[in-house]
Amino acid sequence: MESYKEKYEEYRQLLKDMLSKKRYTHSLNVAEQCVRLARRYNADEERAYLAGLLHDIKKEETPQAMKSLAVLSDMDISEEELITPALWHAPAGAYYIRTKLGINDEELLSAVRYHTACKPDMSPIEKILYISDITSDDRSYKDVDKYRKECMEDIDECVYDSLKYLIEETIGKHSVIAPCTLRAYNFYTILHNERKKSK
Ligand SMILES: [Fe+2]
Ligand SMILES: [Fe+2]
Repeated sequence: MESYKEKYEEYRQLLKDMLSKKRYTHSLNVAEQCVRLARRYNADEERAYLAGLLHDIKKEETPQAMKSLAVLSDMDISEEELITPALWHAPAGAYYIRTKLGINDEELLSAVRYHTACKPDMSPIEKILYISDITSDDRSYKDVDKYRKECMEDIDECVYDSLKYLIEETIGKHSVIAPCTLRAYNFYTILHNERKKSK
């Protein structure tokens, strides 16, 4: 496999052209956090960095363009996702990365596709991207420091806690919950309960 490192500069330039300064900085921060987590959990640092760098590449498209790309991606997009605009940029990004950047790394593409909606039984890069996106240096919500600490200690527990929060928040907003999010919540809740029992 060609080294992803050789492509970093080219992709950073592309992102600079495609995104606002704020989102470009967020992308760099997520990529850095992906590397920290990859080091901590012995995952591939270069792939983790690239997933972080590119994860929001389609976030500043028009809603219509994002939705069309999400549909074109053919990445198992549920009806619930199709009525939730906040989720479109993730599969849209994965589709763009595959078709325009020629990256066919399935784990990386899946990590980008699920970085907002989440999924059960995530691979290391999927989990690392999901958590890096909510713990990057530019995030400033109430519990961010708790999650930053927790993700370095026990990433599965951090996924569980963040999913609980995400589901509660989504219900609070009267929004629908995508099936993959619910299945993720069930998966990490069962894992959490089993681990608690065996302690
Ligand atoms: Fe995103
Ligand atoms: Fe993001």
